[in-house]
Amino acid sequence: MAAISGLIRVMEKAARKAGGRLRRDFGEVEHLQVSRKGPSDFVSKADRAAERTIWDELRAARPDWGFLFEEGGSIEGDPDKPRFIVDPLDGTTNFLHGIPHFAISIAVQEPRLDGNKSINGGWGEVTAGLIYQPITDESFWAEKSRGAWLHDARLRVSSRRHLDESVIATGIPFQGHGNVAEWSRIYQALAPQVAGIRRFGSAALDLAWVAAGRYEGFWEADLKPWDTAAGCLLVREAGGFVSDWKGRSLPYCDSQILAGNDVLHSRIHKILANSLKS
Ligand code: IPD
Ligand code: CA
Ligand code: CA
Ligand code: CA
Repeated sequence: MAAISGLIRVMEKAARKAGGRLRRDFGEVEHLQVSRKGPSDFVSKADRAAERTIWDELRAARPDWGFLFEEGGSIEGDPDKPRFIVDPLDGTTNFLHGIPHFAISIAVQEPRLDGNKSINGGWGEVTAGLIYQPITDESFWAEKSRGAWLHDARLRVSSRRHLDESVIATGIPFQGHGNVAEWSRIYQALAPQVAGIRRFGSAALDLAWVAAGRYEGFWEADLKPWDTAAGCLLVREAGGFVSDWKGRSLPYCDSQILAGNDVLHSRIHKILANSLKS
């Protein structure tokens, strides 16, 4: 049984409050009002309202910490203190289409180090992460060296070892986002070898579900820290592997992600690397 830390409680309280709101607003026309940040990159009233709620809660609990919000950008805190990385609604397209698969992702990243500022802006490790799915009321969380959990149940990545029994999640490129040719080459090489490929539309949940052993693996490109920070920690703390597409297990999560258990991570990496060569 997990001894839930004060920090995870703070993050969960913020996520539940914002998630309750998203659940109420789901399907309400007023909250579907959208603007565009770029081609096919929508932001709804619900994204902004959820972000505001999370900001109010987290700021009250940790007034001197910094923030990196998807919508609001970066807010500097005390330089010796961590920052929160927040995606207030991961799966906006699903939300806007009445598809009940979306989440809130909150991560904690340690303060800037004196070292190489070109890597990750000099920011330190991600040491806590929480992904809350309002519709199913599932709260996935992890803390560095304390494991990954779904509520109070310990999570382990899948123990399946064979591609032909594996379900792999991905993010398919869409207008203005990702490289269709590259994705297609990987898909063509991988699809005939696996039990199934899924594209559910929330990268944060894709990673949480790898940690929970629901998917055997996940690959996507062009992701942002708010999509991946909490989910990468969850996968690692559940005993899985996360790397970029070159197979490098970086201390932070890059925009290209490949996740899975040890055996499948390495098998998928070989397929991915070969298909990108050809
Ligand atoms: C998106 C989702 C989606 C992924 C996109 C992300 P958003 O996040 O995670 O699964 O394919 O790349 O941008 O915009 O819904 O927070
Ligand atoms: Ca978005
Ligand atoms: Ca996102
Ligand atoms: Ca988002």
